[in-house]
Amino acid sequence: MSATEQLEIRRLDPAEVHAQLDALASVLHDCVAGGASVGYLTPFPYEQARAVFASFAVEFEQGRRLLLAAFAGGDLVGSVQVILALPPNQPHRGEIAKLLVHRSARRRGIAQMLMERAETEARAEGKTLLVLDAVTGDDAARLYGRLGWTTVGVIPRYALYPDGRPCDTTVFWKAL
Ligand SMILES: CC(C)(COP(=O)(O)OP(=O)(O)OC[C@H]1O[C@@H](n2cnc3c(N)ncnc32)[C@H](O)[C@@H]1OP(=O)(O)O)[C@@H](O)C(=O)NCCC(=O)NCCS
Repeated sequence: MSATEQLEIRRLDPAEVHAQLDALASVLHDCVAGGASVGYLTPFPYEQARAVFASFAVEFEQGRRLLLAAFAGGDLVGSVQVILALPPNQPHRGEIAKLLVHRSARRRGIAQMLMERAETEARAEGKTLLVLDAVTGDDAARLYGRLGWTTVGVIPRYALYPDGRPCDTTVFWKAL
């Protein structure tokens, strides 16, 4: 990917998510292959990554979850989701999930752009509070700190890396 390629963040409607399933799955597959702790263990075949995104389809269709995609020179290279449907006593709250940028597109500010747009979209959906979690001390955790998220604390050994090693998790929140 060249540094001059145009970057674009777009909210995908359910039909577009379906049309982009292969590209979305490729990014997830690449992130797990790179050792990211985002819910899955190796071996993590491409078909499983595709099934992950396909399994969210109903939630996108019902407006329970929204997806933002990052395009570089027209190619999908990243995505993030906002979970909108939470219990009835938390209508103002959303959750950020699965911030993913392909290794070939990193360190160009794409994750930051995705997160800024996620906040904008969440606000437009009536959300005033967002929460998320990240591997403690990881690239993503640094990004959230930079973007003004507040750290709640660290849960030791909360999750596993794809190779099965445990990792600590930091929980964050941000008021919109
Ligand atoms: C975490 C992740 C999403 C970050 O994606 P990214 O697009 O590389 O993020 P950004 O480019 O916004 O920021 C990353 C770094 O690049 C730097 N950067 C941003 N634009 C830059 C530019 N134009 N030139 C040089 N550096 C730049 C940022 O300052 C940041 O630096 P730091 O690591 O020293 O803090 C990505 O590494 C990833 O997908 N990881 C695997 C999945 C994962 O862990 N997701 C998080 C789940 S909570």
